Amino acid sequence: MRLVLTENLEKDMKLAKPIYDNGKILLNRDVKNLYKYKERLLQLGIYNLYVEDKFSYDIEINPTIRDSTQRRGKKVIKDTFDNISDRFFDLDVKELKGIIDNISSELILNEEVLLNLVTLKKTSDYTYEHCLNVSVICITIGKILGYSQNDIFKLGMGGMLHDTGKALVPEEILNKPSSLTEFEYTIMKNHSELGYQFLQTLNSISPLSRIMVLSHHERVDGSGYPRGISGDDIHPFAKIAAIADVFDALSSDRVYRDKMPTHKVLEYIMNNTETLFDYQIVKKILPKISFYPNGSEVILSTGERGIIKEQNTGFPTRPIVRIIADADGNEDIRELDLLKHMNIVITDVLS
Ligand SMILES: [Fe+2]
Repeated sequence: MRLVLTENLEKDMKLAKPIYDNGKILLNRDVKNLYKYKERLLQLGIYNLYVEDKFSYDIEINPTIRDSTQRRGKKVIKDTFDNISDRFFDLDVKELKGIIDNISSELILNEEVLLNLVTLKKTSDYTYEHCLNVSVICITIGKILGYSQNDIFKLGMGGMLHDTGKALVPEEILNKPSSLTEFEYTIMKNHSELGYQFLQTLNSISPLSRIMVLSHHERVDGSGYPRGISGDDIHPFAKIAAIADVFDALSSDRVYRDKMPTHKVLEYIMNNTETLFDYQIVKKILPKISFYPNGSEVILSTGERGIIKEQNTGFPTRPIVRIIADADGNEDIRELDLLKHMNIVITDVLS
Protein backbone atom coordinates (compact mmCIF):
# COMPACT_ATOMS: atom_id res chain seq x y z
CA MET A 1 0.00 0.00 0.00
CA ARG A 2 1.15 3.55 -0.57
CA LEU A 3 -0.04 7.09 -0.33
CA VAL A 4 -0.56 9.10 -3.51
CA LEU A 5 -1.95 12.50 -4.34
CA THR A 6 -5.41 12.14 -5.89
CA GLU A 7 -4.24 14.28 -8.82
CA ASN A 8 -1.49 11.72 -9.55
CA LEU A 9 -3.80 8.68 -9.77
CA GLU A 10 -2.77 6.33 -12.56
CA LYS A 11 -4.45 3.52 -14.48
CA ASP A 12 -2.84 0.56 -12.71
CA MET A 13 -3.70 1.71 -9.17
CA LYS A 14 -6.49 0.19 -7.10
CA LEU A 15 -7.94 1.50 -3.88
CA ALA A 16 -6.30 0.04 -0.76
CA LYS A 17 -8.71 1.48 1.84
CA PRO A 18 -12.38 2.38 1.46
CA ILE A 19 -13.32 6.05 1.18
CA TYR A 20 -16.17 7.33 3.31
CA ASP A 21 -18.39 10.33 2.84
CA ASN A 22 -20.68 11.31 5.72
CA GLY A 23 -20.23 7.87 7.30
CA LYS A 24 -21.22 6.00 4.12
CA ILE A 25 -18.85 4.09 1.86
CA LEU A 26 -18.23 6.14 -1.26
CA LEU A 27 -15.68 3.82 -2.87
CA ASN A 28 -14.83 0.36 -1.69
CA ARG A 29 -11.44 -1.24 -1.24
CA ASP A 30 -10.02 -2.85 -4.41
CA VAL A 31 -11.95 -0.52 -6.73
CA LYS A 32 -10.14 -0.54 -10.04
CA ASN A 33 -9.92 2.22 -12.64
CA LEU A 34 -9.63 4.59 -9.73
CA TYR A 35 -8.30 7.37 -11.95
CA LYS A 36 -11.81 7.74 -13.42
CA TYR A 37 -12.99 9.15 -10.07
CA LYS A 38 -10.20 11.70 -9.83
CA GLU A 39 -12.30 14.82 -10.46
CA ARG A 40 -15.11 13.72 -8.15
CA LEU A 41 -12.68 12.95 -5.32
CA LEU A 42 -10.97 16.30 -5.68
CA GLN A 43 -14.38 18.02 -5.61
CA LEU A 44 -15.08 16.24 -2.32
CA GLY A 45 -11.84 17.59 -0.86
CA ILE A 46 -10.09 14.21 -0.89
CA TYR A 47 -6.52 15.03 -1.91
CA ASN A 48 -4.68 11.84 -0.88
CA LEU A 49 -5.50 8.16 -1.13
CA TYR A 50 -4.04 4.85 -0.12
CA VAL A 51 -3.57 2.73 -3.22
CA GLU A 52 -1.98 -0.54 -4.20
CA ASP A 53 0.12 -0.99 -7.33
CA LYS A 54 3.03 -3.13 -8.51
CA PHE A 55 5.48 -0.99 -6.51
CA SER A 56 3.68 -1.19 -3.20
CA TYR A 57 1.79 -4.50 -2.84
CA ASP A 58 4.03 -5.62 0.05
CA ILE A 59 4.46 -2.27 1.82
CA GLU A 60 2.59 -2.20 5.13
CA ILE A 61 1.07 0.90 6.63
CA ASN A 62 -0.19 0.33 10.14
CA PRO A 63 -3.13 2.58 10.89
CA THR A 64 -2.74 4.64 14.06
CA ILE A 65 -6.29 3.80 15.17
CA ARG A 66 -8.97 1.64 13.57
CA ASP A 67 -11.02 3.22 10.77
CA SER A 68 -14.22 2.36 12.67
CA THR A 69 -12.94 4.17 15.80
CA GLN A 70 -12.01 7.16 13.68
CA ARG A 71 -15.48 7.35 12.10
CA ARG A 72 -17.28 6.88 15.43
CA GLY A 73 -15.00 9.43 17.10
CA LYS A 74 -15.73 12.01 14.45
CA LYS A 75 -19.47 11.53 14.88
CA VAL A 76 -19.27 11.83 18.68
CA ILE A 77 -17.26 15.05 18.39
CA LYS A 78 -19.70 16.47 15.86
CA ASP A 79 -22.61 15.69 18.24
CA THR A 80 -20.69 17.33 21.10
CA PHE A 81 -20.12 20.47 19.03
CA ASP A 82 -23.80 20.56 18.02
CA ASN A 83 -24.88 20.25 21.66
CA ILE A 84 -22.54 23.02 22.76
CA SER A 85 -23.62 25.41 20.02
CA ASP A 86 -27.23 24.75 21.06
CA ARG A 87 -26.14 25.69 24.63
CA PHE A 88 -27.22 22.22 25.72
CA PHE A 89 -25.57 22.25 29.12
CA ASP A 90 -26.38 18.68 30.09
CA LEU A 91 -23.65 17.21 27.89
CA ASP A 92 -23.40 13.42 27.94
CA VAL A 93 -19.72 12.54 27.95
CA LYS A 94 -20.23 8.76 28.13
CA GLU A 95 -19.71 8.34 24.37
CA LEU A 96 -16.62 10.55 24.44
CA LYS A 97 -15.15 8.48 27.24
CA GLY A 98 -15.79 5.28 25.28
CA ILE A 99 -13.93 6.65 22.26
CA ILE A 100 -10.96 7.76 24.35
CA ASP A 101 -10.74 4.30 25.93
CA ASN A 102 -10.81 2.76 22.45
CA ILE A 103 -8.07 5.03 21.10
CA SER A 104 -5.95 4.40 24.14
CA SER A 105 -6.16 0.63 23.85
CA GLU A 106 -5.66 0.63 20.06
CA LEU A 107 -2.53 2.72 20.22
CA ILE A 108 -0.08 -0.02 20.90
CA LEU A 109 3.21 1.53 21.62
CA ASN A 110 6.34 -0.46 22.01
CA GLU A 111 10.01 0.28 21.65
CA GLU A 112 10.20 -1.23 18.17
CA VAL A 113 7.41 0.74 16.55
CA LEU A 114 7.67 4.22 15.17
CA LEU A 115 4.40 6.01 15.03
CA ASN A 116 2.78 6.97 11.80
CA LEU A 117 0.65 9.97 12.64
CA VAL A 118 -0.52 10.68 9.13
CA THR A 119 -4.27 10.52 8.76
CA LEU A 120 -6.29 11.43 5.73
CA LYS A 121 -8.60 14.34 6.20
CA LYS A 122 -11.29 16.07 4.28
CA THR A 123 -11.13 19.83 4.49
CA SER A 124 -14.91 20.08 5.05
CA ASP A 125 -14.78 18.01 8.26
CA TYR A 126 -11.66 19.72 9.49
CA THR A 127 -12.74 20.78 12.98
CA TYR A 128 -14.02 17.34 14.07
CA GLU A 129 -11.16 15.39 12.54
CA HIS A 130 -8.72 17.84 14.06
CA CYS A 131 -10.15 17.29 17.58
CA LEU A 132 -9.95 13.53 17.15
CA ASN A 133 -6.35 13.69 15.87
CA VAL A 134 -5.26 16.03 18.65
CA SER A 135 -6.71 13.54 21.13
CA VAL A 136 -4.80 10.68 19.45
CA ILE A 137 -1.56 12.68 19.46
CA CYS A 138 -2.00 13.74 23.12
CA ILE A 139 -2.57 10.11 24.13
CA THR A 140 0.50 9.08 22.12
CA ILE A 141 2.66 11.72 23.78
CA GLY A 142 1.34 10.70 27.22
CA LYS A 143 2.33 7.11 26.49
CA ILE A 144 5.81 8.08 25.27
CA LEU A 145 6.31 10.15 28.43
CA GLY A 146 5.25 7.20 30.58
CA TYR A 147 2.14 8.84 32.10
CA SER A 148 -0.32 6.77 34.13
CA GLN A 149 -3.41 5.40 32.41
CA ASN A 150 -5.52 7.84 34.37
CA ASP A 151 -3.48 10.83 33.16
CA ILE A 152 -3.45 9.49 29.60
CA PHE A 153 -7.25 9.41 29.72
CA LYS A 154 -7.38 13.04 30.89
CA LEU A 155 -4.96 14.02 28.10
CA GLY A 156 -7.18 12.28 25.55
CA MET A 157 -10.29 14.04 26.86
CA GLY A 158 -8.57 17.45 26.87
CA GLY A 159 -7.36 16.87 23.31
CA MET A 160 -10.83 15.86 22.18
CA LEU A 161 -12.43 18.93 23.75
CA HIS A 162 -9.62 21.47 23.23
CA ASP A 163 -11.40 23.42 20.49
CA THR A 164 -15.01 22.96 21.60
CA GLY A 165 -15.18 26.71 22.29
CA LYS A 166 -15.24 27.06 18.50
CA ALA A 167 -18.83 25.78 18.65
CA LEU A 168 -19.62 29.16 20.24
CA VAL A 169 -17.75 31.24 17.64
CA PRO A 170 -19.94 32.59 14.79
CA GLU A 171 -19.87 30.23 11.80
CA GLU A 172 -18.94 32.96 9.30
CA ILE A 173 -15.73 33.66 11.25
CA LEU A 174 -14.95 29.98 11.93
CA ASN A 175 -15.25 28.94 8.29
CA LYS A 176 -14.11 32.12 6.59
CA PRO A 177 -12.08 31.02 3.55
CA SER A 178 -9.85 34.11 3.59
CA SER A 179 -7.70 35.57 6.36
CA LEU A 180 -9.47 37.09 9.37
CA THR A 181 -9.57 40.80 10.16
CA GLU A 182 -8.04 41.86 13.45
CA PHE A 183 -11.50 42.08 15.02
CA GLU A 184 -12.50 38.63 13.73
CA TYR A 185 -9.24 37.18 15.00
CA THR A 186 -9.93 38.58 18.48
CA ILE A 187 -13.29 36.80 18.47
CA MET A 188 -11.71 33.60 17.18
CA LYS A 189 -9.04 33.73 19.89
CA ASN A 190 -11.83 33.77 22.45
CA HIS A 191 -12.56 30.10 21.76
CA SER A 192 -10.19 28.74 24.41
CA GLU A 193 -11.80 30.88 27.13
CA LEU A 194 -15.34 30.14 25.89
CA GLY A 195 -14.72 26.39 25.79
CA TYR A 196 -13.17 26.46 29.25
CA GLN A 197 -16.08 28.38 30.74
CA PHE A 198 -18.61 26.05 29.16
CA LEU A 199 -16.85 22.94 30.48
CA GLN A 200 -16.61 24.44 33.99
CA THR A 201 -20.23 23.41 34.37
CA LEU A 202 -19.38 19.74 33.78
CA ASN A 203 -18.08 17.97 36.85
CA SER A 204 -17.40 14.83 34.86
CA ILE A 205 -14.52 16.55 33.02
CA SER A 206 -11.23 16.60 34.93
CA PRO A 207 -9.74 20.05 35.72
CA LEU A 208 -6.57 18.84 33.94
CA SER A 209 -8.53 18.28 30.71
CA ARG A 210 -10.14 21.69 31.16
CA ILE A 211 -6.75 23.40 31.53
CA MET A 212 -5.82 21.98 28.11
CA VAL A 213 -8.91 23.67 26.67
CA LEU A 214 -8.00 27.00 28.26
CA SER A 215 -4.25 26.96 27.61
CA HIS A 216 -3.57 25.09 24.36
CA HIS A 217 -2.62 28.37 22.64
CA GLU A 218 -0.19 29.47 25.37
CA ARG A 219 3.46 29.39 24.27
CA VAL A 220 6.54 28.81 26.44
CA ASP A 221 7.96 32.30 25.71
CA GLY A 222 4.72 34.00 26.77
CA SER A 223 3.65 34.95 23.23
CA GLY A 224 0.44 32.88 23.32
CA TYR A 225 -3.11 33.52 24.54
CA PRO A 226 -5.45 33.98 26.39
CA ARG A 227 -3.30 34.78 29.43
CA GLY A 228 0.17 35.13 27.86
CA ILE A 229 1.69 32.93 30.57
CA SER A 230 5.12 31.36 30.04
CA GLY A 231 7.48 28.54 31.03
CA ASP A 232 6.51 26.53 34.10
CA ASP A 233 3.33 28.58 34.56
CA ILE A 234 1.90 26.57 31.65
CA HIS A 235 0.69 23.16 32.80
CA PRO A 236 2.54 20.25 31.10
CA PHE A 237 -0.82 18.94 29.83
CA ALA A 238 -1.40 22.27 28.05
CA LYS A 239 2.12 22.13 26.59
CA ILE A 240 1.33 18.68 25.19
CA ALA A 241 -1.96 20.00 23.76
CA ALA A 242 -0.07 22.88 22.10
CA ILE A 243 2.33 20.50 20.34
CA ALA A 244 -0.48 18.13 19.29
CA ASP A 245 -2.63 21.03 18.03
CA VAL A 246 0.12 22.52 15.87
CA PHE A 247 1.31 19.12 14.66
CA ASP A 248 -2.13 18.23 13.34
CA ALA A 249 -3.02 21.71 12.05
CA LEU A 250 0.14 21.93 9.93
CA SER A 251 -0.33 18.35 8.69
CA SER A 252 -3.78 19.22 7.33
CA ASP A 253 -4.91 20.75 4.08
CA ARG A 254 -6.80 23.96 4.75
CA VAL A 255 -8.75 26.16 2.41
CA TYR A 256 -5.95 28.73 2.47
CA ARG A 257 -2.87 26.45 2.36
CA ASP A 258 -1.64 22.94 1.50
CA LYS A 259 -0.61 20.58 4.25
CA MET A 260 3.04 20.26 5.19
CA PRO A 261 4.74 16.85 4.97
CA THR A 262 5.49 15.26 8.37
CA HIS A 263 9.23 15.96 8.33
CA LYS A 264 8.59 19.68 7.71
CA VAL A 265 6.08 19.82 10.55
CA LEU A 266 8.59 18.15 12.88
CA GLU A 267 11.32 20.53 11.71
CA TYR A 268 9.05 23.49 12.48
CA ILE A 269 8.31 22.15 15.97
CA MET A 270 12.01 21.40 16.60
CA ASN A 271 13.06 24.84 15.42
CA ASN A 272 10.63 26.46 17.83
CA THR A 273 11.41 24.64 21.04
CA GLU A 274 12.12 27.07 23.88
CA THR A 275 10.23 29.84 22.07
CA LEU A 276 6.89 28.15 21.34
CA PHE A 277 7.07 24.53 22.50
CA ASP A 278 8.51 22.72 25.49
CA TYR A 279 12.00 21.43 24.64
CA GLN A 280 11.96 18.50 27.10
CA ILE A 281 8.71 17.11 25.70
CA VAL A 282 9.73 17.57 22.05
CA LYS A 283 13.12 15.93 22.69
CA LYS A 284 11.46 12.81 24.09
CA ILE A 285 8.83 12.36 21.41
CA LEU A 286 10.88 13.04 18.26
CA PRO A 287 12.72 9.69 18.10
CA LYS A 288 9.32 7.96 18.21
CA ILE A 289 7.68 9.63 15.25
CA SER A 290 8.29 8.63 11.64
CA PHE A 291 9.61 11.67 9.78
CA TYR A 292 8.83 9.90 6.52
CA PRO A 293 5.86 7.57 7.12
CA ASN A 294 5.62 4.24 5.29
CA GLY A 295 4.07 4.54 1.86
CA SER A 296 5.19 8.16 1.24
CA GLU A 297 6.67 8.87 -2.19
CA VAL A 298 10.04 10.60 -1.97
CA ILE A 299 12.88 12.00 -4.08
CA LEU A 300 16.46 11.25 -3.03
CA SER A 301 19.57 13.40 -3.39
CA THR A 302 20.67 10.99 -6.15
CA GLY A 303 17.64 12.09 -8.20
CA GLU A 304 16.01 8.68 -7.76
CA ARG A 305 12.32 8.35 -6.87
CA GLY A 306 11.08 5.86 -4.28
CA ILE A 307 8.50 4.82 -1.71
CA ILE A 308 9.20 4.52 2.02
CA LYS A 309 9.05 0.79 2.71
CA GLU A 310 10.10 0.36 6.32
CA GLN A 311 11.37 2.31 9.29
CA ASN A 312 14.70 1.82 11.05
CA THR A 313 13.86 1.97 14.76
CA GLY A 314 15.57 4.84 16.54
CA PHE A 315 16.53 6.52 13.26
CA PRO A 316 13.37 8.31 12.14
CA THR A 317 15.11 10.15 9.29
CA ARG A 318 16.82 7.07 7.79
CA PRO A 319 14.14 4.63 6.58
CA ILE A 320 14.42 1.83 3.99
CA VAL A 321 13.31 3.09 0.57
CA ARG A 322 11.98 1.10 -2.34
CA ILE A 323 13.47 2.83 -5.36
CA ILE A 324 11.01 2.83 -8.26
CA ALA A 325 12.70 5.07 -10.82
CA ASP A 326 16.25 6.21 -11.55
CA ALA A 327 17.32 9.83 -11.95
CA ASP A 328 16.15 9.82 -15.59
CA GLY A 329 12.70 8.55 -14.66
CA ASN A 330 13.27 5.01 -15.97
CA GLU A 331 11.74 2.18 -13.98
CA ASP A 332 14.32 0.71 -11.62
CA ILE A 333 12.94 -1.31 -8.71
CA ARG A 334 15.32 -2.07 -5.85
CA GLU A 335 15.74 -1.54 -2.12
CA LEU A 336 17.93 1.12 -0.50
CA ASP A 337 18.55 1.27 3.24
CA LEU A 338 19.35 4.87 4.09
CA LEU A 339 20.98 3.77 7.33
CA LYS A 340 23.64 2.01 5.24
CA HIS A 341 24.00 4.92 2.80
CA MET A 342 24.50 7.95 5.01
CA ASN A 343 25.64 10.05 2.02
CA ILE A 344 22.15 9.89 0.46
CA VAL A 345 19.32 12.03 1.86
CA ILE A 346 15.63 12.51 1.17
CA THR A 347 15.24 15.85 -0.58
CA ASP A 348 11.51 15.98 -1.26
CA VAL A 349 8.23 14.26 -0.33
CA LEU A 350 5.65 13.95 -3.10
CA SER A 351 2.66 12.51 -1.22
FE1 LIG B 1 -7.63 26.16 19.43
